[in-house]
Amino acid sequence: MPEEQGAEAYLGITGISKHFAGVQALKEAQFSCRKGETHVLIGENGAGKSTLVKIICGVVPRDEGEIRLAGQQIEIRDALDAQKQGIAAVFQELSLIQDLSVAENIFLGNEPVNRFGRIHYRRLYSKAADFLRSLELDLHPRFLVRDLTLCEKQLVEIAKAVYKKPDILILDEATSALGEREVEWLFRLIKKLKEQDKAVIFISHRMDELHQVADRATIFRDARYIMTFRWGDLKDDEIVEHISGKKSTQQEILKPIGVEGDYALEVEGASKGRVLRNISFRLRRGEILGVAGLSGHGQTELLHSLFGDSPLDAGIIKVNGRPITVYNERQALKNGIVLLPEDRKTDGLILSHSVAMNITLMALEKMQRLGVLVRKLERKNIENAVRNLQIKVSDTALAANSLSGGNQQKVVFAKALLADAKIILMSDPTRGIDIGTKNEIYHLMSGLTRDGYSILFYTTELTELLTLCNRVLVMYEGQIASELSGSEVTEKNIIAQSIGIGGAA
Ligand SMILES: Nc1ncnc2c1ncn2[C@@H]1O[C@H](COP(=O)(O)OP(=O)(O)OP(=O)(O)O)[C@@H](O)[C@H]1O
Ligand SMILES: [Mg+2]
Repeated sequence: MPEEQGAEAYLGITGISKHFAGVQALKEAQFSCRKGETHVLIGENGAGKSTLVKIICGVVPRDEGEIRLAGQQIEIRDALDAQKQGIAAVFQELSLIQDLSVAENIFLGNEPVNRFGRIHYRRLYSKAADFLRSLELDLHPRFLVRDLTLCEKQLVEIAKAVYKKPDILILDEATSALGEREVEWLFRLIKKLKEQDKAVIFISHRMDELHQVADRATIFRDARYIMTFRWGDLKDDEIVEHISGKKSTQQEILKPIGVEGDYALEVEGASKGRVLRNISFRLRRGEILGVAGLSGHGQTELLHSLFGDSPLDAGIIKVNGRPITVYNERQALKNGIVLLPEDRKTDGLILSHSVAMNITLMALEKMQRLGVLVRKLERKNIENAVRNLQIKVSDTALAANSLSGGNQQKVVFAKALLADAKIILMSDPTRGIDIGTKNEIYHLMSGLTRDGYSILFYTTELTELLTLCNRVLVMYEGQIASELSGSEVTEKNIIAQSIGIGGAA
């Protein structure tokens, strides 16, 4: 479908190619956006979206191609250049300095100084407080970034970009670490920026988010530009077809039931300060038990506690009917429990290590015992993981940080599966994963349950619960507000329980 004619492009990019060792990340790509629009970039993991963003921001040099701004050809050599041209971005990877405060991070390079040229801290903090208030953000300017939650860090990233008052704001999967309320906040901000005639370039794998913000969209596939269209001109399944290059199929329902009477994991009276209050539930062997609720109601804390990251104050945990203690990850793994964490950057991966090394990280002990066989087995395990999860990597000896965001997430997935634990705790596992692969992962999960695995599955995407779970625990203020099962597992019930108005389901 040809792009509609008329309105003038503000940012225009043509013939952009970029090659990394062994990988063509972009091939003669084009893109253009206008002032006053939200333009979404869509494509599978590894399609080249983030690379395009980095080229626009001067963070990655391009091999060839042209960038025009307001009709003029321009050169963007580095981030400062981009800032001068009125372009600011929130990158997919968090870029904050952990040991600096919220205020210092926001003003980095633009700090108010006193007459000796030193940072004027009192002014820095009061200016930051004013600025955060103007954005309606409830963040303390003096707090160290290190001590913030992943969601709060992401809000600081956004504030930092907005502080530069850009004409073009680029958000590369900026919502993936946000809760519902924060996403709503961001969408209000985007609306305001549009009203001020700014351009917003927005990247997300979540269709529901795209429906809320997109004015126009551009699709990339395998490093190439596919098309630009006005949002609303294509149906969802047509979009998916262009993204994947294949005919789309209807989402199947994949709910495994679990073996009656046989419990893999039992939790009784789990409590932790005010975050977890008297939580009890049982997970059957071969079951995918959903955990729902608005983010921040104790779901991630529950999963991390069961993995020994932050032990409980009180409560009993049983595996296969036997009480166990988990004060650390080693104990959890020994008892057959593994966690797929939500924050791949700090918990999930060692980014500077190879993809292969990351995949086998939690399974090394197991493979070492096999002595001579180990190398061969290791290679086979790695090859299987790459194939099953469709990890897009030209060579598994490459560092994990050379992979696209979604492919890094797949490595985290592979690593957890290889740990050989039969109880898998999943915390938002498909975050940042493209639509096609999400489907593969659903099948993989349901296949795992047939092989005797049991999954405790926290996700922020409601439709995933409806697709995969027969029972769902809805959490509200650190408690299980209700346990829905069978025909009670509906979108309406989950939402009602999540906001504490459900009553009996
Ligand atoms: N620094 C790098 N070194 C080597 N290869 C890279 C590097 N950065 C990106 N690539 C490769 O370029 C391709 C495009 O990556 P890019 O990050 O642009 O994808 P993406 O569309 O943003 O995907 P995702 O949705 O997973 O974030 C991928 O195959 C990726 O592995
Ligand atoms: Mg990306």
